[in-house]
Amino acid sequence: IVGRGAERDLAGLRVVVSAGGTREHLDPVRFLGNRSSGLMGWALARAATLRGAQVDLVAANVTLPAPPGVTVHRVVSTADLAAAMTEQAAAADLVVMAAAPADFTPSARSDTKIKKDGDGGLRLDLVQTTDVLASLVRARTDPAQVLIGFAAETPTADSSLLDLGRAKLARKGCDVLVLNEVGEHKAFGRPDNEIVLLTGAGADGPWAGSKDYLAHLIWDCALGQRSRR
Ligand code: CTP
Ligand code: CA
Repeated sequence: IVGRGAERDLAGLRVVVSAGGTREHLDPVRFLGNRSSGLMGWALARAATLRGAQVDLVAANVTLPAPPGVTVHRVVSTADLAAAMTEQAAAADLVVMAAAPADFTPSARSDTKIKKDGDGGLRLDLVQTTDVLASLVRARTDPAQVLIGFAAETPTADSSLLDLGRAKLARKGCDVLVLNEVGEHKAFGRPDNEIVLLTGAGADGPWAGSKDYLAHLIWDCALGQRSRR
């Protein structure tokens, strides 16, 4: 990727990236969250800036400082993320949902700390959150806008990584799905990853390398989709 940024092939394009993991608060001190570090979204924002794009980064609970030249919008919950992405994506050319939104949120949030009551444990009542990516696909008004999702999957004996990815691409209706396997020692919080780029045309990869390198491949793929419109 040496000299890659010099191409400035995203100049004039507005890019929106989401990053990090959302948190759903149970009470003033506890939340449901996930292991997303925000590193992939940060790499995407840096790479897009180098290539000349105007970049907005919607960040859920990421402690990293804002990349130079990038406007960061900080959010906490999936509902916050949905609102920020809906606003930012309206005028965007390329949108990447690299964030890991919590899929479930408590049906009610306690204003006071939940206390132990004897030794009976605690049952949580959770409801599903908004599917941000699917709602962005539905809300798309600019037919040239490219929408990219990620899929973090744990393959099983019955379903391979590719099977899971293809089913998710069809379900979400986005243009590209960046597929990666996740696990205790895979993907989360690491500087590198291995991805497959899934589109209607098929699977491209696997590609392994630093998240900076993979970010450039993802923007190449986004531009490829755009030129097809
Ligand atoms: N996503 C989203 N809103 C949600 C959940 C996920 O926009 N409430 C996005 C993620 O940012 C990602 C893509 O959808 O780009 C796929 O996320 P993933 O968690 O792999 O898929 P889900 O549809 O949530 O399905 P599941 O977790 O059950 O596999
Ligand atoms: Ca999910």
